[in-house]
Amino acid sequence: MGQSNLSTKTSLNKSNFEKVLISRVDSVLNAISAESRIVDEPLRYTLKTRGKCVRPILLYLTGDALGLNYKQLDNYAAALEVLHTYSLVHDDLPCMDDDDLRRGLATLHKKYNDSTAVLIGDALQTLSYQLIAEDKYFRDEIKIMIISKLTKTTGQDGMIRGQFMDLYFENNLATQEEIIEMNILKTSLLIETAMDIPLIIKGCLKQEWADLQRIIGLSFQIIDDIIDLTQPTEILGKTAKKDLLAQKKTLPLLLGIDAAKEELKNNKKDALGIISNLKLSDHPLKFYIENLFSRVK
Ligand code: IPE
Ligand code: IPE
Ligand code: MG
Ligand code: MG
Ligand code: MG
Repeated sequence: MGQSNLSTKTSLNKSNFEKVLISRVDSVLNAISAESRIVDEPLRYTLKTRGKCVRPILLYLTGDALGLNYKQLDNYAAALEVLHTYSLVHDDLPCMDDDDLRRGLATLHKKYNDSTAVLIGDALQTLSYQLIAEDKYFRDEIKIMIISKLTKTTGQDGMIRGQFMDLYFENNLATQEEIIEMNILKTSLLIETAMDIPLIIKGCLKQEWADLQRIIGLSFQIIDDIIDLTQPTEILGKTAKKDLLAQKKTLPLLLGIDAAKEELKNNKKDALGIISNLKLSDHPLKFYIENLFSRVK
């Protein structure tokens, strides 16, 4: 299922990398939409709107930095986008964050109904593992290591625990440490795993990479939390100031927007320092990380 038809190697530069990599994710996901039967319409609806593809792009760029080619990574990149999309479909449900708008369109449960959104979320989660299991480029042993890592980072001790904390804190106070722990679990771990996949494939697990992954993962949620408060619905593609309304516990709500921005500034400096130590200062990964931080002005 879902191997892309795109070429093995396209040369990436500062201005084309995002477009080139997103088109690879599109190619795999469009093939799945075209194949699917039982759940056709709603599945296609969720897969047709492309988000930013942050996790696939980080996976491809880390892979590129380690000398892997994109075609070998296509199913893993698509699997991560599908897994992330499942988490959003469930995150938006009325019993969770109760959101009506996602990527500028009605959320899946608004467009169809709650049971459809629950089932499509389930289907997307299993589809992500199917994409990895059916990949034809890497050995079974590597695939099992990746699947095992993903189940740990998204399961009861990972994203699900983070989502539990997020909902619990709607009605309870949270300390800064608890918010950081929640952010690691609900958001950072999946982003870290995106970069881990090529590192696992290459057998290259180094502390410097791990530090970089954690900085990016944690910063990503702070950025999401700041722009929830500061950007309008039309730009966000989701309802603005929703965290305040739902009494979510976020770092900018606890510490103030300026302090959260300061934290990001320090994180960016640390991330670029590691990138430089990894000798990747001219690599698109560096430009992409800068772009992620520049989502907050
Ligand atoms: C939003 O993720 C949810 C968080 C983990 C903060 P993204 O900002 O990556 O959402 P899309 O995929 O681009 O829509
Ligand atoms: C979502 O965090 C985290 C997961 C989906 C696991 P948010 O609830 O902040 O994401 P948005 O703001 O709805 O995109
Ligand atoms: Mg949420
Ligand atoms: Mg939400
Ligand atoms: Mg948010």
